[in-house]
Amino acid sequence: MRILFIGDIVGRPGRKMVFDNLPRLIEEKNIDFTIANGENASGGFGLSERNFQELVDCGIDAFTMGNHIWDNSEIYNYIGETPRLVRPANYPATDPGRVYQEFAVKDERLVVTNIVGSIYMTPVYDNPFQVIDALLKQLPSRAEAAIFVDFHAEATSEKMAMGWFLDGRISALVGTHTHIQTNDARLLPRGSGYLTDAGMTGPRDSVLGVDKDIIVNRFLTGVSPRFETADGDIQFNGVVFDIGPDHQARAVEPLNFWQPGF
Ligand SMILES: [Fe+2]
Ligand SMILES: [Fe+2]
Repeated sequence: MRILFIGDIVGRPGRKMVFDNLPRLIEEKNIDFTIANGENASGGFGLSERNFQELVDCGIDAFTMGNHIWDNSEIYNYIGETPRLVRPANYPATDPGRVYQEFAVKDERLVVTNIVGSIYMTPVYDNPFQVIDALLKQLPSRAEAAIFVDFHAEATSEKMAMGWFLDGRISALVGTHTHIQTNDARLLPRGSGYLTDAGMTGPRDSVLGVDKDIIVNRFLTGVSPRFETADGDIQFNGVVFDIGPDHQARAVEPLNFWQPGF
């Protein structure tokens, strides 16, 4: 099966990039299943019910999230109902939502899950290595199902370490959260596809999707007004994982292109 993962969709520019390009990409790249990180899709903060539905209607089959998951309170209206969104597995057990979900893709099984990192992330939740280790023991094995993990984490070291820790047990690990796509897509020796960070789908002339002048001024003076999503040119960042019938990854292809914005 061929899985497209879309790096953190940021605001209206990011959604436009998805609407303008996803149907074509699904066709051109023979995509069977599309996953996106949705934590910033509504104004940079969380995922509203309407935006969730619009993106599903456009072709996104499942969402992973991250530290911004609760920023838009509309998520509480639908997170308990939909199978199409998973929340970080190492958040408190009392939080709403599911921590993994199984899908049927071309008569095969695909499990999607999500964890957050422990380094330079606030607040710090349960140890992501121990939580994913315990979760994988409950899930079907890689022989039985393709297993996809979004590790939403800041530190490249923590993500690479997680790649080595899970290699052989999962089909693909993609990192998110930094909004900068890394150049290290590869197959790990025990059959897991790996990319340290998928990047960000949203405003290109920005700092991580936010208006660049606000962020430059914040670094310059320590003071900043409320973050606003930038406008101008928009970029698409993502990655395609080709998964074989043994649920090992066969190829990892990063995607990175841009177009004029509004
Ligand atoms: Fe993000
Ligand atoms: Fe994040």
